[in-house]
Amino acid sequence: MWPPKCSVAKKIPLMPPEKLEIFKSLDGWASRCVLPMLKPVEQCWQPQSLLPDSSLPLEEFMDEVKALRESTKELPDEYLVVLVGDMVTEEALPTYHSIMTSMEGMKDEPGKSPNPWAAWTRGWTAEENRHGDLLRTYLYLSGRVDMRMVDKTIHYLIAAGMDHGFGNNPYLGFVYTSFQERATFVAHGNTARLAKEGGDPVLARICGTIAADEKRHGNVYSRVVEKLLEVDPSDAMVAIGDMMEKKITMPAHLMYDGEDPRLFEHFSAVAQRTSVYTANDYADILESLIRQWRLEKLEGLTAEGKRAQDFVCGLAPRIRKLQELAGERARKIKPCAVKFSWIFNKELVL
Ligand SMILES: [Fe+2]
Ligand SMILES: [Fe+2]
Repeated sequence: MWPPKCSVAKKIPLMPPEKLEIFKSLDGWASRCVLPMLKPVEQCWQPQSLLPDSSLPLEEFMDEVKALRESTKELPDEYLVVLVGDMVTEEALPTYHSIMTSMEGMKDEPGKSPNPWAAWTRGWTAEENRHGDLLRTYLYLSGRVDMRMVDKTIHYLIAAGMDHGFGNNPYLGFVYTSFQERATFVAHGNTARLAKEGGDPVLARICGTIAADEKRHGNVYSRVVEKLLEVDPSDAMVAIGDMMEKKITMPAHLMYDGEDPRLFEHFSAVAQRTSVYTANDYADILESLIRQWRLEKLEGLTAEGKRAQDFVCGLAPRIRKLQELAGERARKIKPCAVKFSWIFNKELVL
């Protein structure tokens, strides 16, 4: 089965008080090194600059919409399915905001707490908020997708929440976000490349612009884990082992459109087939984090930390091997046609 099991015994889904103290000791560092990684609003792109300009006289605006439709016309259905899935994931931002602000040491209790972690989360949410807005408006104007079904999916997803597996523990939470933002960067980067190949340079720019934000966010989160490894190496290592053992579930894994109970699985299969996000990307991200965090070189760990280190450092080749076997098995299974409500119930062969 994938992911492989390990023998990391200790789970820390809830934050023990002494860990909270260690985390809180990083407040000053977060103010100095994390908060400045937010981009000042005046320097940020806004969705409007990448979309038809609705302030133009109607005819000119309509010409811009027509040009948009012309360039999205040839995009393959499977590409649209992946882009909708990515957009739906972005649109469930209220869930991610509430998860981030419910972690110990990061609470935004009055809604405008001066706590640097809460301030970061507000700023991060504001930056992220543009991603779903931009993609949704672009897809809406394209006329290529069934917006009622897409919006229903977003509605269901926000109402369903998310099963992330890190409780209220920021050690685990930052391992998750380090991984997840990097995965989002990879996915948006690949949708940018495919849009370019599919003859839509504006969409390529949109996806590339979003990917750049994800990269910056991912760098911040992985830098936080690096700091935790510096101040509390064993438990930070155990947290990494714990999250990798659970496997990083993608944030939209509970997606549903009211029709297909296996929607996330089907969307993921299309993402894998179009090479937008694959199991090999998962292994690549893991390896890049292992290198950045210099996990193989960590010394002086507790026995539990050492077990987690051995598990994590040996995991990527095992994932690749299991993926190879799964691929071989999949090739022997007869392909089946799956309807996607997002593209007006057209079928894709998976
Ligand atoms: Fe995003
Ligand atoms: Fe993100």
